[in-house]
Amino acid sequence: MYAFSNAVNSMHSEDIKRLLKQSSGNNMISFAGGMPNNDLFPVKQIDEIYDALPINLKKLCFQYGAASGYPPLVRSLKSYLHKKGLPIDIDKILITTGSLQAISIITQEFVNKGDIILTENPSFVGALSVFETYEAEIHGIPIDKDGIDIEALKQKIASLDKTPKLLYVTPNFHNPAGIIYTPERKKALLEVLSNTGIILIEDDAYSDLYFNEEDKYLTKPMKSYGLADVEIIYTGSFSKILGPGFRLGYMLSSPEIFEKAETVKQALDACTSNFMQILANEFLSQHKLDPYLKFLRFEYRDRKNILQQSLIKYMPEEVIWNEPKGGFYIWLKLPEYVSSTDVFKESVEKGVVFVTGRTFDPSSKKDDRIRLSFSNMPKDTIEKGVKILSKVIKKALKSIPSETV
Ligand SMILES: Cc1ncc(COP(=O)(O)O)c(C=O)c1O
Repeated sequence: MYAFSNAVNSMHSEDIKRLLKQSSGNNMISFAGGMPNNDLFPVKQIDEIYDALPINLKKLCFQYGAASGYPPLVRSLKSYLHKKGLPIDIDKILITTGSLQAISIITQEFVNKGDIILTENPSFVGALSVFETYEAEIHGIPIDKDGIDIEALKQKIASLDKTPKLLYVTPNFHNPAGIIYTPERKKALLEVLSNTGIILIEDDAYSDLYFNEEDKYLTKPMKSYGLADVEIIYTGSFSKILGPGFRLGYMLSSPEIFEKAETVKQALDACTSNFMQILANEFLSQHKLDPYLKFLRFEYRDRKNILQQSLIKYMPEEVIWNEPKGGFYIWLKLPEYVSSTDVFKESVEKGVVFVTGRTFDPSSKKDDRIRLSFSNMPKDTIEKGVKILSKVIKKALKSIPSETV
């Protein structure tokens, strides 16, 4: 037995490993992994971009770069983020190796052992793992269909004997809950945080993946609201729009936070791959992103519609969910007495995997939810998968414990 650290033995890290194993199983119908679809990647465009690169840029691909990022990509990102209303003239962009690294950098910048981090409950399991690695004390705040529960957040802040360092939220097409915050809820959240000293991490990995044009306004980032009395660090990712294999993310923060983040980044991995930054920059600067996003929105909406229709057709009435307006996920609610971990055990045997509710609970307890990801599913297996899963759930509903009858 080795004396592994407390952090590395944490439950959430184990969950991620299990999740990745399950979603790569060959014969499984997998609603598990929150990844884009292999068949949708812009392989041809990237081939053409690389082939057409001048030789000096091809050589640069192989080289180290600046810790803060490849300057032409930073410029392209500025105009991309400017369209979202973000304050790119005052604040500064740091390119990171995936946006998970941005979350890690921010945590390293601000959090000492035992410091408090507030998250939504449920919350993105990757971020929870990072927070655990830095031995933060994590407090989860419930969410509803419109966003974080404002009263619960106020009460939590009032009940703590020290000020939380960070609040981490995913307001647009939440992972795992699939919801998008209403503009009212975003405003209310900022009001609660105003002048508290709690730094808000606004994780915006999915906002480009709305299904209908009329919902686009909902994705407006809180950092674009222009409020001076709340410190917001905005993080974004190329993983859901170009491919996670790029390992490209970024953070937008005040210059002071940027300076320290750059120092942390330098110590972590010196710089993000020049290869990927150069290819991504060409993709953006040659205006290939917008048409590609249109295509992706159509494809993911199609998969969401098939999943939604299949759920309506097969799920028992005890199972409820909200239809998402974008992103990758549908978050099923089971009756309290049914555990998604139990459903999972049976479902794996029948060839269908998903992610259990407790995976996303900071305290690994609440287990009456199932996350179904429709992003990486061949369209023609969605219905088959739902049919199998619904049978397993119906069986679990029949074995109601006697005290609940
Ligand atoms: C909410 C959220 N944030 C961040 C990430 C991490 O993305 P990246 O691949 O850029 O590290 C994910 C990936 O699943 C995510 O769901």
